[in-house]
Amino acid sequence: MTWRQYHESTQHSVESLRRAPHVLDWVNMPNPFGHYEGVPVLDLPADPPYPDIAALDVLQGLSGTTPVRDGPTFLSQLLFYSASISASKLVSSTGYRYALRVNPSSGNLHPTEFHFLTQGLNECPDGLYHYRPSSHMAEQRVSGELEMKLAGSAAPIVFVLTSIAWREAWKYRDRAYRYCLHDIGHAWQALALAARAMGCDSFAVGHFPDDEVAQFCCLHKDEGPMLIVELRGRSIPVREPDACETVWYGRHANQLSEERTTYTRIDGIHGATKLSKRECRSISPAQPAPTDTGEIKLPFPASSRRAFGEVARMRRSALDFLGGTQSMSLTQLSAILAATTRPFFADFASANFIQLYLYAHRVDGLQPGVYRFWREPAELEQIKSGDQRVAAAGLSLGQELAGNACVAFSMIGDLERGARAHGDRGYRYVHFEAGAIGHRLYLAAEALGLGATGIGAFYDEEVHRYLNLTPKQGQAVYHFAIGYPIPNPRLAA
Ligand SMILES: Cc1cc2nc3c(=O)[nH]c(=O)nc-3n(C[C@H](O)[C@H](O)[C@H](O)COP(=O)(O)O)c2cc1C
Repeated sequence: MTWRQYHESTQHSVESLRRAPHVLDWVNMPNPFGHYEGVPVLDLPADPPYPDIAALDVLQGLSGTTPVRDGPTFLSQLLFYSASISASKLVSSTGYRYALRVNPSSGNLHPTEFHFLTQGLNECPDGLYHYRPSSHMAEQRVSGELEMKLAGSAAPIVFVLTSIAWREAWKYRDRAYRYCLHDIGHAWQALALAARAMGCDSFAVGHFPDDEVAQFCCLHKDEGPMLIVELRGRSIPVREPDACETVWYGRHANQLSEERTTYTRIDGIHGATKLSKRECRSISPAQPAPTDTGEIKLPFPASSRRAFGEVARMRRSALDFLGGTQSMSLTQLSAILAATTRPFFADFASANFIQLYLYAHRVDGLQPGVYRFWREPAELEQIKSGDQRVAAAGLSLGQELAGNACVAFSMIGDLERGARAHGDRGYRYVHFEAGAIGHRLYLAAEALGLGATGIGAFYDEEVHRYLNLTPKQGQAVYHFAIGYPIPNPRLAA
């Protein structure tokens, strides 16, 4: 299986949805929480300090500080603002309450697990940990000195973000691998931005030997390492590393469901996008993205002083948007778009693979229509005029939220350029970038008093036709919507 075969075979069309209806097997739903039984636990103090730098400043690249001097509180703050439970929803008919997290996930199924290594973190034994969001704890899987050079040079904290595709495939079947990749992009930005708000730098490494890293972290065969994120910076409270023997406590995670269905396309694309040790020795830079200009210059971006801590934890996906007459301003749109253009710090991010297309429904000063966003200079090029509400909703699998929003987006990924630079592995990187942009859109919208929703379901070929895209211009990889959210009566803080 190649990236192209996987991508083409997992496109949505009216026929594909009609041909293969799917009934959810609720009894066999995978547990969205992973954990390791019987391992020592590092208590992460409750109510860690609040990162009060403005969220829009963090999105614009400014760093905050943290007063924290001990490792467990530092980790608690980092994870509380990037990966923890931040709200719950109540199903009134059954009384069942389910958890929502700081990082979003398609279908709230959360295929992403956060593992991390620490070395020389104050008051924190060196080792390999797994974050258990259900109780905000770090489970110590290994203690002692570990070969930390997973991603090049040693850093005091190194995250290994993994995906358990079965959690997502249970609902979305073969298309689920795309959503796992988006979710990793969201988790990466959730972590990178929380780290920045606390005064640390992060660098993501996508180019690593999969099997070696999986073996190193002793992952179950259903769980694949996807991204390594190193954290560095003077705000990390450090000491001399331990020099003690390595002891394993937790090699086996909990079983997620009684049965697991095999999705051969997912196994195929995962295998095709893996790298061996030999293949990942060097990473070639991708050709730069094409540039152009539009006729609409974006105004100076709107500002907001809402604190990062509040914005990260209040972020929610809107179920739908108020479709009335209330519009957003062009300066708000300008701030949201500006957040997407800041650099990504990753070994695969020397060139951008995603271009944003906007379906503007209600933006003051912008005629309804479709626009292409050019990053430098920040300009919009109008490519269609007229009301786009029916088209935007229709293209997003008939989801009305894309029409009721003030603005909806198609993220067009240059999968061909990704593959030319990185082979099949490039397929992952294009989707990571889409998820990462999505995360910035969520936070920027929330900071400005708006709501947002990532949309993984769309009619692929219809989007290409509607936008008149040639294969060279890329393919739809993610949709998004921003507007005024309808209240969600099920939501509890
Ligand atoms: C990759 C991705 C795809 C998504 N696709 C859709 C979608 O097609 N329709 C929708 O209503 N919500 C979609 N969502 C929103 C999720 O349902 C939402 O993140 C999840 O229910 C958790 O809620 P929260 O974001 O408020 O934490 C998507 C989210 C992500 C990250």
